[in-house]
Amino acid sequence: MKVIQLWDKAIRIYHWSQLLLLAGLWFTAEQGYLVVHQVLAYSLAALLISRLVWGFVGSETARFSHFLQSPAQLVRMWHKAKHGIGHRGLSGYMSLTLMLLLALQFMSGLMTTDDVMTEGPLYNAVSSDWSSFASWFHHNNFNLLLALIAVHIAAALFHGVKKDGVLGAMLHGKLQVEADQPAVKSTIWYLLLVLVFTGGFALWQGMALYQQW
Ligand code: HEM
Ligand code: HEM
Repeated sequence: MKVIQLWDKAIRIYHWSQLLLLAGLWFTAEQGYLVVHQVLAYSLAALLISRLVWGFVGSETARFSHFLQSPAQLVRMWHKAKHGIGHRGLSGYMSLTLMLLLALQFMSGLMTTDDVMTEGPLYNAVSSDWSSFASWFHHNNFNLLLALIAVHIAAALFHGVKKDGVLGAMLHGKLQVEADQPAVKSTIWYLLLVLVFTGGFALWQGMALYQQW
């Protein structure tokens, strides 16, 4: 048994900022603070898109190829006690599903309106049928996200009760396990990606948001 770094800082920065930003997005939508809502949404999108890129070029355990197994592998794993390290089996698919639903939530927001003062920047670029669908989706997909997040948190707490180290690893990154240290990439690259995407969103929407404010 030895202590390895299971999750790099990029994954943990992404994970815990995402929790805070989602809480903020929910609150600002409920209170009608829609300019702040959009600023938070672009921040979350920059972190998320960078995480998706990190899934191809990042540390070993961050890569989709590491944590998405084929259905046949899933069935085989089901019968084995030892699963290897990283998101395994269903938890890998749950992670991907949460990321994809967040991405769709963001995209639908771009075409949504509150029917009063705020319109997403692509609202006028699509037909009214599409924008009504996007508004419907923006509302209902969030409820689906909340339901899946509840399942996700319940699973995390279950790991906490089992004291198998999975919950702690998302906090401090480390896990005591019988495995070799997986390759870890520098967090700087992830932060650079976040900076590039944040800059892109600021150039695209910064002035419009300033005027709405
Ligand atoms: C108190 C709240 C939360 C706790 C305790 C928690 C815990 C965890 C844990 C332990 C993992 C690693 C699971 C594994 O080893 O496979 C994880 C991964 C993940 N969680 Fe959470 N989570 C929380 C909230 C959320 C929220 C609100 C979201 C929003 C969608 C979320 C999305 C994800 C995603 C996408 C991953 C994969 C991370 C990656 O690969 O970058 N979690 N979470
Ligand atoms: C992942 C990011 C996002 C999350 C989690 C999110 C979440 C939410 C939630 C929970 C609501 C309330 C829905 C309801 O109860 O009907 C809402 C409403 C809204 N969102 Fe977002 N949103 C996100 C991104 C965006 C983006 C990018 C935009 C526009 C640029 C946007 C614009 C709006 C508008 C205009 C409303 C008001 C809709 C109404 O009053 O019916 N959202 N959002």
